Amino acid sequence: MKKILPLLLLIISYNAMAQKRIGNETDAQKKKRMEWWTDARFGMFIHWGLYSGAARHEWVKHNEKIDNAGYQKYFDQFNPDLFDPHKWARTAKAAGMKYAVLTSKHHEGFCLFDSKYTDYKATNTKAHRDLIREYVNAFRAEGLKVGFYYSLLDWHHPDYTIDEIHPQSPADKSDASYAKLNKGRDMAKYRQYMRNQITELLTKYGKIDILWLDFSFPRKDGHGKGKDDWGSVELLKLIRKLQPGIIVDNRLNLEEYKDGADFETPEQVSTAELAKYRGKTWETCQTFSGSWGYYRDENTWKTHRQLLDLLITSVSNGGNLILNVGPTARGEFDYRANNALDSLATWMHANSRSIYDCTFAPDKFKAPEGDKLTYNPKTGRLYVHLYYYPISGTLTLPGYAGKVRYAAMLNDASELISKPSDTNPQDLVLTLPAKKPGYEIPVIELTLQ
Ligand code: GLC
Repeated sequence: MKKILPLLLLIISYNAMAQKRIGNETDAQKKKRMEWWTDARFGMFIHWGLYSGAARHEWVKHNEKIDNAGYQKYFDQFNPDLFDPHKWARTAKAAGMKYAVLTSKHHEGFCLFDSKYTDYKATNTKAHRDLIREYVNAFRAEGLKVGFYYSLLDWHHPDYTIDEIHPQSPADKSDASYAKLNKGRDMAKYRQYMRNQITELLTKYGKIDILWLDFSFPRKDGHGKGKDDWGSVELLKLIRKLQPGIIVDNRLNLEEYKDGADFETPEQVSTAELAKYRGKTWETCQTFSGSWGYYRDENTWKTHRQLLDLLITSVSNGGNLILNVGPTARGEFDYRANNALDSLATWMHANSRSIYDCTFAPDKFKAPEGDKLTYNPKTGRLYVHLYYYPISGTLTLPGYAGKVRYAAMLNDASELISKPSDTNPQDLVLTLPAKKPGYEIPVIELTLQ
């Protein structure tokens, strides 16, 4: 007993911790609130700001240790003459995306919206207007759900204290150097600034579907930032009060609360890692090319196949994919992004039924070697994503005999003749189209018994 007691106490206190709550929503209510998002599965992230002009990573201010004066040229130059949010929205919709999240403010501190609390905003650039409002109107008009990203970090605000990752972080990392740099800076004022701005974002633009707050990096030595720096509990209460239906990410550092976040955000992880998230509520955020902001010289763009794999693997593990575009400083998606989105549009036009409303397959169905399954619990249909098109012209589905009522290609609804295998009668053998359909990863739709 002596040995077990500490263990028991640990388990009890862990459970008590996990049960801590900020609000009083039930699991069923949360499920209902999140339903549209869970069904949607695919969204567009948009990182756009002054860094788009530097065109070498949205962290350029940090990476090159630029101060406010040195960064001013990007503000002075900002002039998105080709900005057409309706075109953005149509492109997102055509690619099959159901929602979007745009950076209202990134770590650099620049606001795309007309905030009363700063001059560092789009209205004071050559754009002369509230770009967030135009985005909201355009995306809403296309029937897409609308979200805002808002950076908790702010490398421009005079009260935001200098921490480990601030561009002006001291070289020697000593407490004395931090103290010297932070003289006169007051996080309480910055917290109020954030509350004011988030209030603006959540009261001046109608119904906002998602708020993506980014990010926490608590450190023992005090030179990071976490829930106390942001006033996270109070902030989340405010957000839920202003927009009761809103969906909020998990970067406020409120892990100890059961309702401190609505979804997890595995960032830029490999498809192999996504299996770990099965059973949780999550959205993986991914770039086309490594950087979130427009990066002219970054050329390691993911292929169409890699992007499809991300989407399919997310859904086959019960999660969402939010894929990022970094528009140029002129306000356009560049040709590489457009090409990638066009290819996705072609695939989604024919195959989106294996994505929307879908999740992982019931355990009794195993994917044929190398392929991936998704499943729609509402319609009872199972989808086999053919990663490797068999040259034999047939596909064996292990243990599926007697479980399938009808088999067809998803892209053209053409029937696939099926029969139990001669050698192993539990298996079902499908005869596939002689020639691989014109999709990188074709999909079979199985209507189950
Ligand atoms: C990271 C980065 C940031 C990006 C975000 C998207 O936290 O700081 O640049 O906006 O991830 O998930």
